[in-house]
Amino acid sequence: MLSVRPSGASLGAEVVGVDLSQDLDDTTFNRIVDLWHEHEVLFFRNQTLTPEQHVRFSRRFGELELHVRKDCCRPGFHELFVVSNIIIDGKPIGSQDAGLFWHSDLCYLKEPSRGSLFYAHEVPHDANGQALGDTQFASATTAYNSLTQDIQKRIEGRKAVQSYKKGYYRDRNAGPRKPLTPEQEARTPDVEHPIVRTHPYTGKKCLFINEGYTARIAGMENAEGDALLNQLIEHSTRQEFIYRHQWRVGDFLLWDNCSVQHQAVADYKLPLRRHMERTTLSGTAPF
Ligand code: SIN
Repeated sequence: MLSVRPSGASLGAEVVGVDLSQDLDDTTFNRIVDLWHEHEVLFFRNQTLTPEQHVRFSRRFGELELHVRKDCCRPGFHELFVVSNIIIDGKPIGSQDAGLFWHSDLCYLKEPSRGSLFYAHEVPHDANGQALGDTQFASATTAYNSLTQDIQKRIEGRKAVQSYKKGYYRDRNAGPRKPLTPEQEARTPDVEHPIVRTHPYTGKKCLFINEGYTARIAGMENAEGDALLNQLIEHSTRQEFIYRHQWRVGDFLLWDNCSVQHQAVADYKLPLRRHMERTTLSGTAPF
């Protein structure tokens, strides 16, 4: 029997009593979707999933994205983007430095992702058994609702430029990344999206900018625009909008890429290993 335990933060809830490796009936699946829309981040503990089951459950939500960095995907599963610091025979098994800055997955596409489904294969721990490598989630709906009316008016109808290149080439712990191939460049031109986005399922307003990929406010390429963007970025990840997830092996977590932005906490390094895998749901053009 499915039950829900809200995290106590402004977003996030645990769902208990569901085995995601099984074929869920429509009633259970639809309840999960409703809970996800309500809580924005939803997680299930103690799951045992094969890569096929991870992909199959994700497909219940719709189409999946094939990541532009194919070399970071699980061999044979272009739908499974691997986030890991593990290196085997000199080759990283996935992206070693993904998500270390606040962002929303694929916000730089014309049709950004609807949501991501993340499965914890290996979680690092310190000498006292404390889990490391948490992920923080910030509610973009709460962030929008707590803006002053004055700021809400200033950003109404405005767009921001989302740039994959800004995120890809920024400073990273794992060192500079190799240049994008012409094909990767062609798949990721800069795009403009509304700063205030309406959630396609709940109709709620979301503050759709982030530190990682938002380059500037369209039509305000000046100091005033930069100051406004910085103010919005700072506001969007205030402590009271955040749920911080401490991972356990077997956690399966869904986040909504319209109503949530997230950041991975880099407080561990090899020989402490972290291995996570993500499917990314296709989405629709923001409005
Ligand atoms: C991501 O942004 O997809 C990675 C998040 C994480 O590693 O916690």
